[in-house]
Amino acid sequence: MKQRKNTFRQTPVDDTLNGPSERTPKPNLETNQFLLVRNLSVLFNGFVALNQLDFAINSCELRCLIGPNGAGKTTLLDVLTGRVKPNQGSAMFLRHTSLPDKSESEISQLGIGRKFQKPSVFEAQSVFSNLELAIRSKRNIFSRIFKKLPSTDYDKILAMSETIRLSSKLAKEAGTLSHGEKQWLEIGMLLISDPKLMLLDEPVAGMTSSEIDRTAEMLRSLSVNRAILVVEHDMEFVRKIADQITVMDQGSVIAEGDMDQIQSDSRVREVYLGDEKLSF
Ligand SMILES: Nc1ncnc2c1ncn2[C@@H]1O[C@H](COP(=O)(O)OP(=O)(O)OP(=O)(O)O)[C@@H](O)[C@H]1O
Ligand SMILES: [Mg+2]
Repeated sequence: MKQRKNTFRQTPVDDTLNGPSERTPKPNLETNQFLLVRNLSVLFNGFVALNQLDFAINSCELRCLIGPNGAGKTTLLDVLTGRVKPNQGSAMFLRHTSLPDKSESEISQLGIGRKFQKPSVFEAQSVFSNLELAIRSKRNIFSRIFKKLPSTDYDKILAMSETIRLSSKLAKEAGTLSHGEKQWLEIGMLLISDPKLMLLDEPVAGMTSSEIDRTAEMLRSLSVNRAILVVEHDMEFVRKIADQITVMDQGSVIAEGDMDQIQSDSRVREVYLGDEKLSF
């Protein structure tokens, strides 16, 4: 079981948002046209969950987002997928689309796919049927009720089952898969609509070490064609996959860089002090 560090702030911050400190790095925001988040703040009944956050990611990048419990990582994903509307700031996708102005389903149609921590596959359905349902759910009502699957979709499902390493289990009920395999199936269900940006919240939590290794390989090859933002506490996994790591604490970005830069950052070490899971 993952060890968690309790960093919840007990005292709600008042209406005046505290800007990130002088030490907060500024990502290379100006050149980024893919996803650009600026000055983003989210308050829950006066409690500051995101605090004037700046963040950017490029189109074919595998980025890891780390930080202690309560840092605001999931809240950032909630804003990017339209679940939470920010109190302040902007989140622009592909330069012209303001994500906070869109609904969750519009954002999904735009090509932003999200996987939550807990796998949510249809347990009583086969692996094949789960992938088929994912294809159909993206279509209009006529193609959803049209019984026969076009051969192109059939081929797509077979190819996807190879990608997610489940080609030998297509006929198996999803409920019989291991936890890691269920996570892969859900990644496949997201991928089948070919998202431009995939958001994965703690994808390897609860996986065996061999499943973690296979997930690392999978995500690295998937990021050739799309952006992937992975929220993760497992630093061994982060080390395996990330070129760039963004570190959040108390609703802001406190560091950004490769593993060596993050490891040697005194503020990052300070924030994680005592958390053995994050002791690099
Ligand atoms: N709907 C909500 N209402 C009130 N407070 C919330 C809500 N959602 C999140 N918070 C608070 O906002 C802060 C940021 O939470 P968030 O879930 O984004 O953190 P996190 O970085 O994802 O943490 P973890 O690593 O534990 O998943 C936390 O203090 C949390 O309690
Ligand atoms: Mg979270």
